Amino acid sequence: MKDTPIDYDIVKKEIENSGLAKIGKGTIREIVRTVNNIEKESGKKFIRMEMGVPGLAPPEIGTEAEIKALKRGVASKYPMIEGITALKTEASRFVNLFLNIDVSEKSCIPSVGSMQGAYATFMVACRRDVKKDTLLFIDPGFPVQKQQMQVLGLKYDSFDVYDYRGEKLREKLESYLSKGNINCLIYSNPNNPSWICFTETELRIIAELADKYDVIVIEDLAYFGMDFRKDYSIPGQAPYQPSVAHYTKNYILLISSSKAFSYAGQRIGIIAISDELYKRRFPDLKRFFSSDEFGYAIIYGALYSLSSGVAHTVQYGFAAMLKAANDGIYNFVDAVKVYGKRANVMKKIFIENGFNIVYDKDEDNPIADGFYFTISYPGFTGVELIEEFLYYGISAISLDITGSKRSEGLRACVSQIQNNQIAELEYRLKEFNKHHPLISQK
Ligand SMILES: Cc1ncc(COP(=O)(O)O)c(C=O)c1O
Repeated sequence: MKDTPIDYDIVKKEIENSGLAKIGKGTIREIVRTVNNIEKESGKKFIRMEMGVPGLAPPEIGTEAEIKALKRGVASKYPMIEGITALKTEASRFVNLFLNIDVSEKSCIPSVGSMQGAYATFMVACRRDVKKDTLLFIDPGFPVQKQQMQVLGLKYDSFDVYDYRGEKLREKLESYLSKGNINCLIYSNPNNPSWICFTETELRIIAELADKYDVIVIEDLAYFGMDFRKDYSIPGQAPYQPSVAHYTKNYILLISSSKAFSYAGQRIGIIAISDELYKRRFPDLKRFFSSDEFGYAIIYGALYSLSSGVAHTVQYGFAAMLKAANDGIYNFVDAVKVYGKRANVMKKIFIENGFNIVYDKDEDNPIADGFYFTISYPGFTGVELIEEFLYYGISAISLDITGSKRSEGLRACVSQIQNNQIAELEYRLKEFNKHHPLISQK
C-alpha cells in the first residue's frame, strides 16, 4: 500500500535508518527520534501519542513562587535533604485533604520527580530483609522502573493484571506473596499505560495481603486525582483519591508534580511514607546504610547519596501550588480535565474505525477517559501496528515494553494532541481502515 497519508518511501527509508530490527519494539525515545526525522523530511505533522509529557502550561503560582525564591537568593544555599518546612507542611496537608489519611510532615519527603522517589524507595525497601529479595510489579507498568531495578542489581517479578481484576486478584497475588521472597509490590493508579484504576475491592485485597505477608506497597500516584469519573478535587471533602493507604499502614505513596500540576520540567515529587513504616527498624538495612530506621535510611542513606535533596526553588514552587490546592484556591484537577475530554473524543474515533480498547474495564465499569488509553486493530500485533501507523502519520508505543501480555496493544497518550488535529486524526484512521478492511467490512 503506497498511497498513504505520509510519503511511503520516506517512512520506509527512515524505518530502515533507525537501525532497529523492528521499529515497533523501539523505546519511546527511539520512536520519538524516527518520527522527528519523518516529520522533518516529509514536512507533515504527526499525531503524536508516544510520549507522556504534559501538554499544558505550568501553573503561575508555582513559577512565581520559584522566581521569588530565586531572587531571595536561595540558589546559594543547600536545601535540607528532608525538604523545606513549607513543602513538608503542605504535602502533609495535601495527603490529609485529598486522600483523607494522616502522614506527618516528617514522613513527607521531596524527591527529584517520582522517578527518583521510586529509585530511592527501591534502594531501601528492597534491601530491608535478606530473605525477601524480590519486588513484584503489578503490570502493565512504567518501563523505567524496571530499568531502575536492573541498574540497582535488584530482582523483580511481574504479572499482567488484565485477567485478574476484582476478587481474582487475591489468588494471583497470594501465589506470589506466599512464596515469602517478595519485599514490595508496586503499581500506578491510575495506571500508566492502560489507565485502569483499581477498585476499592482490589485496593483492599492488596492491603490485606501486604499485611499478611509483610510486603510494602509502593503506590505510584503519578496521575493523582485524574480519574475524572469522580471529582477528587475538593479539599477535605469526599470522594477522596482511592488508595491502598485507606486499608494498610504498610505503604509508600509517590506523588508526582509532573502530570497533575503540569510541572514535569522542574522534577519534583513527594515520597509519603506511612508514619508506622517510617519508624520501623530493619537490621538488614545496616548492610547499606548507617541507620536501620526505614525513613532515616530513605533520607540520609538513599536521597543523600543520590542528589542531596531537591533543588531549592522548585521546593518553594511546589509548596505554593500544594498550598493553593489545599486552601481551595487552585483546582488542580479542573486544570487537567481537558485530557479526559480529549481522550473521550479520540477513543470514539478509534472505535468508529475498527479499533478496540484493550484495557477497557475496571471490574464491570468502563475505564475512565484520561491521559492514556490502549488500542488494538484486528490482525495486527502491537509491534506491527506501530510500524504501520507511521505511514499514516500516527505514533504510539507498544504495550509489549510495559509488561503487558496483550501483545496486540498500543498505548496512546492524548497530551500532545491539539484540538485542530482531531479532524486529521479522523481522516488518517479512515484511510487506515480503508486500506486494512476488517473481515466484517470486506
Ligand atoms: C507511572 C509513572 N510513575 C512515575 C512517573 C515519573 O514521574 P516524575 O516525572 O515525577 O519523575 C511517570 C511519568 O510518566 C509515570 O507515568
